[in-house]
Amino acid sequence: MKDVRSGTRIASVTVLSVTAIAIGCLTMDALAGQGAKQSLYDRLGRKPAITAVIDQFVANVANDKRISERFATTDIPRLKKNLIDQVCIASGGPCAYTGRDMKTTHAGMNITTADFNALVEDLVASLAKFKVPEAEKKELLGILGPMKKDIVEIP
Ligand code: HEM
Repeated sequence: MKDVRSGTRIASVTVLSVTAIAIGCLTMDALAGQGAKQSLYDRLGRKPAITAVIDQFVANVANDKRISERFATTDIPRLKKNLIDQVCIASGGPCAYTGRDMKTTHAGMNITTADFNALVEDLVASLAKFKVPEAEKKELLGILGPMKKDIVEIP
């Protein structure tokens, strides 16, 4: 008798779980149907894809004679980590950015608009290498672009 009851309980729990999963899926379908969008973070391919893009970006900067000198004394692993976390959080990902704010970081570096554009070009080249689609590229640049006012000191 006891065994039969516990069997019934397991069966009801299973039915409830399956129902919950089914409702979950239906809700997600409904949201997708209503045009609910995945975060930019998800569309970029989450942390592994962001890490690959930043690794290539920093390599491009290191090979870019226009600006590479500026990073001569920089702790590159730390820079990469901060860039990854910054892009992760800015695109809606579950990260924490522990670096300094953009104004404090770049203060006194006398960064010009030309420097800024060179760095953006190096990022764009990395995004192209990983075939990041136009929409996601634009969205990411749209998030980073407004930081220019805190970074560029010599227009
Ligand atoms: C949208 C453009 C940019 C973004 C999002 C950005 C972001 C960052 C971040 C997150 C850090 C690390 C902060 C920290 O260590 O606490 C950093 C550091 C640095 N950035 Fe930028 N940056 C940008 C443009 C530039 C440009 C144009 C230059 C110069 C060509 C530059 C030069 C540097 C240097 C040299 C460091 C290292 C500072 C140090 O070693 O203490 N950045 N940047």
